[in-house]
Amino acid sequence: VHQHEEERNRLWRELHDETAQVLAALNMQLGVIAERSDEALAPAVGRARTLLGEGIKGIRSVTRDLRPVALDDLGLLPALRALARDFRESGGLEVTFEVVGELPALEAEAEAALYRAMQEALSNAVRHAGARNVRVTLAAEGSDALLTVADDGPGFPEDAASRLRSRGGLAGIRERVTGLGGHFDIGSDERGGARVRVSVPGAETKRLSEARAE
Ligand SMILES: Nc1ncnc2c1ncn2[C@@H]1O[C@H](COP(=O)(O)OP(=O)(O)O)[C@@H](O)[C@H]1O
Ligand SMILES: [Mg+2]
Repeated sequence: VHQHEEERNRLWRELHDETAQVLAALNMQLGVIAERSDEALAPAVGRARTLLGEGIKGIRSVTRDLRPVALDDLGLLPALRALARDFRESGGLEVTFEVVGELPALEAEAEAALYRAMQEALSNAVRHAGARNVRVTLAAEGSDALLTVADDGPGFPEDAASRLRSRGGLAGIRERVTGLGGHFDIGSDERGGARVRVSVPGAETKRLSEARAE
């Protein structure tokens, strides 16, 4: 199950972070060309932009389809519980999962980001920390949902923040979460183990802040 989901996540990132960005940049360049070129070229440039728009839409629909299957099958909380169970069974990791408070309604993208964040933090707890116990909490924090994953390993290395290379798993999570208007941070919990925190805005807050930005 992990492997399949990791592959979907990798594809999602490739399409969302790379291909879609390149097409968006291309669209801007075509805009510049349209402004500077003579009238005779305008219809051709217009057609090119329409085609590009179609391509961008196509990629969006694929990235939508690449969200974790468990989310659609089960819904957020059961999907996260199933993820905890997977790691317990295949990773030998003792994972506790706790929900605190009344969670806000979340958009599909925010749910997927939480799922991927938990998945990445749990794989890291196995791979990098040799952890035995991991505590996961999902809490209502004002109108946000805050996910905390804390393990009992040795904690992040000193230079971890600078080592979050742009291509690593956590860097991808950070990008994904901040892109949704949420927050990401790493640190250590009271036991000294690694702690990853990710928050995403509730659907209502997100809608309001987008309306303000327009
Ligand atoms: N739970 C953890 N405990 C200790 N160190 C960690 C933990 N998670 C990540 N790290 C450190 O942070 C780095 C970046 O993690 P990540 O972005 O997931 O990249 P990757 O897993 O591909 O190395 C890791 O290489 C490791 O040094
Ligand atoms: Mg990783």
